[in-house]
Amino acid sequence: MKKKTIRTGIIGTGFSASFHYEAVCKVHGVNVEVVGAHTVDLEGGRKYAEKRGIRFFEKLDPLLDEVDVIHVCVPPIAHEPISVAGLERNKFVICEKPLTGYFGDGTPDFHWQRADKQVALDAALKSIDRMLAAEAQSKGKLLYAENWVYAPAVQKEREILEKTGGQILWIHGEEAHSGSHSVDYAYAARCGGGVMIGKGCHPLTAALYLKRVEGRVRDGKPIRPKNVSARTHAVTRLKNFRDEGHIRKDYYDIDDFSVMHVEFDDGTMADIIASDIVLGGIHNWLEVCANNHRAVCNINPNTALMTYNPVEKNFADIYVVEKIGTKQGWACTSPEEDWFTGYPQEIEAFYRTIAYGDPLEGDIHLGADAISTIYSAYVSADRQGAAVDVKTY
Ligand SMILES: NC(=O)c1ccc[n+]([C@@H]2O[C@H](COP(=O)([O-])OP(=O)(O)OC[C@H]3O[C@@H](n4cnc5c(N)ncnc54)[C@H](O)[C@@H]3O)[C@@H](O)[C@H]2O)c1
Repeated sequence: MKKKTIRTGIIGTGFSASFHYEAVCKVHGVNVEVVGAHTVDLEGGRKYAEKRGIRFFEKLDPLLDEVDVIHVCVPPIAHEPISVAGLERNKFVICEKPLTGYFGDGTPDFHWQRADKQVALDAALKSIDRMLAAEAQSKGKLLYAENWVYAPAVQKEREILEKTGGQILWIHGEEAHSGSHSVDYAYAARCGGGVMIGKGCHPLTAALYLKRVEGRVRDGKPIRPKNVSARTHAVTRLKNFRDEGHIRKDYYDIDDFSVMHVEFDDGTMADIIASDIVLGGIHNWLEVCANNHRAVCNINPNTALMTYNPVEKNFADIYVVEKIGTKQGWACTSPEEDWFTGYPQEIEAFYRTIAYGDPLEGDIHLGADAISTIYSAYVSADRQGAAVDVKTY
């Protein structure tokens, strides 16, 4: 079959825009022509474009004129407006996680810990409705970039579920490390909340996805979240937190530890932990306890390669693994971190959907269910963990 050519644009030129570009370069089933990039940071954007030999667009509209697809790699607060702008122009929109959210009341003294979480939930659901309406009216589509869905370990578990008809009884999972690199991340008004949304959305969405797969295979309809109980904490803002310099602690108003207990509509459960207080590198895993098998998806770290390095400086220019504090001693050195994380598989799958109409695993409804669950979880946390019903999409 002759490969189709698809023209694409990258919106945002920071951390995620870099791994999106690298994944786009690896797409092999479709010819992808990266036309250019746009960001509000003109200097950073020009550098990003120059480094990759692509054009820089100071404004979004002229880039939209020239492409079929945009990658939305901007902070969560800008996901809805940019995605909707793309969909209104009948473009395909690859939108980073979290799909959308609530970004404060606009007052300068907005503080997430004191905010009314029911107001946040209602606003997030309205944002979802606007994005769904934009997609429904568009010839384009929103492709929800939750890489955990496409991580090879999670996709292997999908195959096991599909071929064995297993029933998942309990999922537990975690995303954790010692603190985000992003300055914006300290403020809920820019990120829509704290660690429960920023990190929790990864394992939560993988859990929601696998329960969808289970229902789809066995009964022809997805199993959905029914209610959620949650607790959040701000450990690094505790008066008695003893800072030894290893854990980031300059957050303004966000939670840095969270736990969600999700009950699905078939009565089974998922427990999802997310935190910014864990040393030893990124800790991303999901364990599936089914009636006919058990699977531990070790996304990062994993033991594909173990290294022992007796002298720190010997590994000075060797990338070991995300967020590790030291390269000395034993390490789970990742031979291909992006691959284990699912970035190239995700982007390959998205372009096959765009070019040839292949089925889409990471769709807008999955992203919407994750947002609805998380903001319901914030309401629950405000009520000391009382169960709160989850609206599903
Ligand atoms: N899937 C993952 O593993 C993963 C990892 C990191 C970040 N992310 C997600 O990617 C998104 C971006 O995070 P990041 O780490 O790349 O942030 P970043 O701060 O590194 O980059 C953000 C970029 O967006 C630009 N920007 C901000 N507002 C804009 C607007 N209105 N219009 C155009 N450009 C704008 C900034 O100038 C910057 O270039 C977030 O939603 C985050 O949750 C996902």
